Amino acid sequence: MKVVITGSRGKVGRAAVEAFVAAGHDVLGVDLVRPVFDAGVTVPGRYMMADLTDAGSAYAVVAGADVVVHVAAIPQPTGNPPHVVFQTNLMSTFNLIEAAVRFGVTRFVNVSSESIVGNFFPERPFLPDYAPVDEDHPLYPQDPYALSKSFGEQLMDAAVRRSDIRAISIRPSTVHNEDNYEENLGKQVRDPSNLSANLWSYIDVYDLADALVLSAESDLPGHEVFYIASPDNAGGHDFAALLHEHYGDQIELRPLDRVDASGISIAKARRLLGWNPTRSWRDYLDEQGHAL
Ligand SMILES: NC(=O)c1ccc[n+]([C@@H]2O[C@H](COP(=O)([O-])OP(=O)(O)OC[C@H]3O[C@@H](n4cnc5c(N)ncnc54)[C@H](O)[C@@H]3O)[C@@H](O)[C@H]2O)c1
Repeated sequence: MKVVITGSRGKVGRAAVEAFVAAGHDVLGVDLVRPVFDAGVTVPGRYMMADLTDAGSAYAVVAGADVVVHVAAIPQPTGNPPHVVFQTNLMSTFNLIEAAVRFGVTRFVNVSSESIVGNFFPERPFLPDYAPVDEDHPLYPQDPYALSKSFGEQLMDAAVRRSDIRAISIRPSTVHNEDNYEENLGKQVRDPSNLSANLWSYIDVYDLADALVLSAESDLPGHEVFYIASPDNAGGHDFAALLHEHYGDQIELRPLDRVDASGISIAKARRLLGWNPTRSWRDYLDEQGHAL
C-alpha cells in the first residue's frame, strides 16, 4: 500500500517508517526537517518536508495515498505555549483527515495518547477510576496536549460518520527505545516508589510500530480506539501490591492477567488487531535499572 507517515523523523515515526518498509509498503515520510541530500546518507522510504498545520501541504502529501499514519505532533504540553501545542496537534490532524476523506483514502491511523485519560500534566490532581485502565475508562483531559488528542479522536468519529474511511486511534503508553530506556525507566525498575502517572506502564517503540502496521493493514470498520502498552510493568513488580501500597483504595483494582501487570489493559488490541508485543524493558536493563 502507499502509506504516508507523518512525524517520520521523530522517535515513533522513525521506527514506524522502518516497520512499514520492512512489511513491503511504499512509504512517504513527512516531517518538518529538511530532506537529506548528502550522498551516502540513506533514510528508508521517500520523504517530503511539510508543515501539516498548513492545509495545502497536508493535501499535497496525502494525494495518492491508500493509508495515512498520522504520528506527527508536539508530544507534550510543557515545551511550547499552550495554544501552539493545541493548534499544531489539532490543525494537523484536522487537515490530514479532511484531505484523506476528500481523496478517498481507505484507512487513517491516528496516533493519540494514553494521556487522553487525564493522567499526565493535570493542573488539578487526577487519579484513574480503576486500573488497569482500558478503552471503557472515561476521559478527563485538562491540559492542551491531552485535549488535542481528545478532539483528534472526535475528528476520527466524524470522518467515519460522513464517509467510508476507516479509522483507528492508537493510544501509546510512554514510548522507549535503545537511547532512553535507562534514563526513562531505570528509576522505576530500581524503586517503584518513583511513581508515574500511568501506573508503571510503558511501551517499546518497535512493538508500537508493529501495532501501527497491523492497524494500517486492518479491515476493522468504523473508528476503533486501542491502548498500546507492554503487558508487564516497568520493573516487573507485583501490580496489585504496588497499587494498594501507594494508592490505598483510591483506585479500584480490576482483574489482572498477570502478577506483574501493566497499569493499562491491552486486551482489546490483542483481540481485534492480533497485536502481540514481544519486547520488554528486560531486553535493555538489568534488575537495578542499569543498561545491559
Ligand atoms: N513519546 C511518547 O512517550 C508518546 C506517548 C504517547 C503518545 N505519543 C504520540 O506519538 C507521536 C510521536 O511522538 P514522538 O515521541 O515520536 O515525538 P517526536 O517529537 O520525537 O516526533 C514528532 C515529530 O512530529 C513532527 N512534527 C511536529 N509538528 C509538525 C508539523 N506541524 N508538521 C509536520 N511534522 C510535525 C516533529 O518534527 C517530530 O519529528 C505523537 O503524536 C505523540 O503525541 C508519544
